[in-house]
Amino acid sequence: MSLNLMADRAAKLFSRCFGHAPQWIVAAPGRVNLIGEHTDYNDGFALPMAIERYTLIAGGPNARREVTLHSVTTGETANFSVRAGIERGQPAWSNYVRGVIACFPHKGGKPTGFDAVIDSTLPYGGGLASSAALEVAAATLLEAMNQRTFDPLEKALLCQRAEHEFAGVPCGIMDQFTSILARENQALLLDCRSRTTTPVPMTDLSVSVVIINTNVRHSLAEGEYAKRRSQCETAARALKVPALRDATLATLEAARGEMDSITFRRARHVISENERTLQAAQALQASDWPVVGQLMRDSHTSLRDDYEVSCPELDAVVDIVQSIGKNGGVIGCRMTGGGFGGCAVCLVKADAVAGLIRAVDGTYEKRTGRQAAIFSSRPAAGARILK
Ligand code: GLA
Repeated sequence: MSLNLMADRAAKLFSRCFGHAPQWIVAAPGRVNLIGEHTDYNDGFALPMAIERYTLIAGGPNARREVTLHSVTTGETANFSVRAGIERGQPAWSNYVRGVIACFPHKGGKPTGFDAVIDSTLPYGGGLASSAALEVAAATLLEAMNQRTFDPLEKALLCQRAEHEFAGVPCGIMDQFTSILARENQALLLDCRSRTTTPVPMTDLSVSVVIINTNVRHSLAEGEYAKRRSQCETAARALKVPALRDATLATLEAARGEMDSITFRRARHVISENERTLQAAQALQASDWPVVGQLMRDSHTSLRDDYEVSCPELDAVVDIVQSIGKNGGVIGCRMTGGGFGGCAVCLVKADAVAGLIRAVDGTYEKRTGRQAAIFSSRPAAGARILK
């Protein structure tokens, strides 16, 4: 569905719920990470792009000093007061908005009440940064309501803090950064230490980005994500470096005796993934597809075997796509996002997309008993105010 259609739909629903038209409509995209997974919280590199799937909020102020949020996706309504401090509450998705309101520096120091309708074309828990898109959309709405525009980095950090404190996920900065800063027809090479981005043009229309949702919903809050993060910190301490960004495969090998074998493998993933990401950015820039494809394959293997964040369904998708091979137009395929379910990302020749969809549809269900959802996306622009 186009953004304009979504905006119309949200505006209509807002009018039906609240009896007048919304004052603002804002949208924030999800993202797909081409390579550079579980590197952001290690001060490393990632190469994401925003996708043409959005979370949209239609909103307007109220005089009740209350926030009322209606979700089109779940049909649920959250209602909470902003008179005193904002707390976590139900439904669970409302915590992303509660967190952003709590972290936002409001005009006059106090949040005003508002009504909102939230709609999204992003699968929830699908590894495409649906949480970040909701946070960034909420922050964009608050910017409009408070008539101020944040520095993008400040805004991303605010959203990240909301996720840490209100959703309990110690995420990195990639998702929020991408949802805010992305540009059409570009991937972003993110340096998560300096928090700077280098655009990598993706203007070659003969190559498509295809996203395959395993329809296994991941839940990063369940603890595995936090566990990986702390294993990386343990490895960095053993290596006596501030973050794994500062280690090399040679220094890791030399310190093998200083850590257990799991910690060693976690670190090996992060260190090698950082190298792959820098190489992939160069190869993408040069349209060197064989190299991009090999790096994507190596990334998946490393995430599966060393970092252990894949799952049988993701491995099945990657295996099916990779077995179509170069002659079938496939450049590369890997899991994307936090893992434990969610989506795989493939780069594929545009004229081979239909064949790839047929192959996945025909085989994935047989192998897993589930149906995959498949779509392609051009690199999209970051969050914006539509009205
Ligand atoms: C999630 C987090 C990101 C990043 C990825 C893994 O999407 O929100 O910060 O760590 O997992 O690369």
